[in-house]
Amino acid sequence: MPAAMSTPAQRVLTGITTTGTPHLGNYVGAIRPAIVASREPGVESFFFLADYHALIKCDDPARIARSRLEIAATWLAAGLDTERVTFYAQSDIPEIPELNWLLTCVTAKGQMNRAHAYKASVDANEASGEEPDANITMGLFCYPILMAADILMFNAHRVPVGRDQVQHIEMARDVAQRFNHLYGQGRELFVLPQAEIEDSVATLPGLDGRKMSKSYDNTVPLFEGGPKALKDAVARIVTDSKLPGEPKDPDNAHLVTLYDAFATPAQREAFRAALRGGLGWGEAKQQLVQLIEDHVGPMRARYAELMAAPERIEAVLQAGADKARAQATPFLRELRQAVGLRRMVAVGQPAAANGAAASSDQGAEPPLVKQYRETDGQFYFKLTTAKGELLLQSQAFAGGRDAGTWVKRLKTEGAAALAKAPVSRAEGVDDATVCAALDALVAFEAEQAAKSAAAKG
Ligand code: TRP
Repeated sequence: MPAAMSTPAQRVLTGITTTGTPHLGNYVGAIRPAIVASREPGVESFFFLADYHALIKCDDPARIARSRLEIAATWLAAGLDTERVTFYAQSDIPEIPELNWLLTCVTAKGQMNRAHAYKASVDANEASGEEPDANITMGLFCYPILMAADILMFNAHRVPVGRDQVQHIEMARDVAQRFNHLYGQGRELFVLPQAEIEDSVATLPGLDGRKMSKSYDNTVPLFEGGPKALKDAVARIVTDSKLPGEPKDPDNAHLVTLYDAFATPAQREAFRAALRGGLGWGEAKQQLVQLIEDHVGPMRARYAELMAAPERIEAVLQAGADKARAQATPFLRELRQAVGLRRMVAVGQPAAANGAAASSDQGAEPPLVKQYRETDGQFYFKLTTAKGELLLQSQAFAGGRDAGTWVKRLKTEGAAALAKAPVSRAEGVDDATVCAALDALVAFEAEQAAKSAAAKG
């Protein structure tokens, strides 16, 4: 069975780099739509703090630490249901850097040369007469590979991102495809992810009408500075110079776009009509402040509570990391197996090259799997040593075919399939013994298959 098929529902995954304080644009463009999408039925969401990525952009430890806290608190204050979604810090998942390496080894350097973020830095260096790679770290150069690891680790189908990130998702697809081709032996180890861009909201305008972004210094704060800071920022929104009483064109005012981001359809209509009827910009700004404050105010209170209790945030993230690793750990075991980083047990010699040699002829006898039906009419299987000592006992299956499917998986995937398999270990038998037996079983089965292929060929 392809690994991808065992992935339930639609997986949506996105991360936010922890280098700054979230502003209104981050909330409207990323956090709010992600939370809304996470409530859809049939969607399984993975949201995380991209704090390894943050180290690429920022070498100020205090800022990294502060931003991790602020961004986590923002997600929680905005109503993320951490029971429903998997919410974690990238740096709490050691499988991600491990996968990063497996992917690095199949990524073409030429493709990384073409990554926009890296190329932009090279261009800037050249424009200022510097060496092309001046001040460029390997972190920046390999940024897309780490991002691919984030995504592929959890076999995400959909990745909501800004336009600037689309190339990275395409690179993740390429890397996934290459890995599947090299190591999948016909199985799709990785799902090929798809970028998802929410254009309608993704680019909230800032004070000056350009995309709201810290680098343009045109942001409206989300929680920071309280209602006063919100009011001050809105006061700085650029409008035309029409006076109160003069009709205004609502379709040409980014103030209206900001209003729309929080308004109901009826409110939008009323606001437009008022502007056409001569509502002054000062009054319009007051209405905008009120509208945003109605939404943000209650969240700001929750945010303040959370920021005052960082240990609560940490506990939420640790629980999320446990949930994430329950997937990542067995999956990485499977991937290690696929690339050949395996336990050294009874590895058969390639049958085609050396038809006679076989580990089972030289080493210990392989373990045995027995399928059977009990008097209760249910189907079972068990794994024993060659001598018949019980290692694993399956649950009951209504059909013999279901039992057979799991037997086949254990024989082909070995220990990698164990975490998900409906089996329990026999008393007094440890995990390492079972894993070693399963790996020996896989090696034995592979050898048998190779032998029969050689006999046929
Ligand atoms: N690079 C993304 C950004 O700056 C953040 C990020 C890191 C990410 N890993 C990811 C987004 C994986 C989506 C999926 O916006």
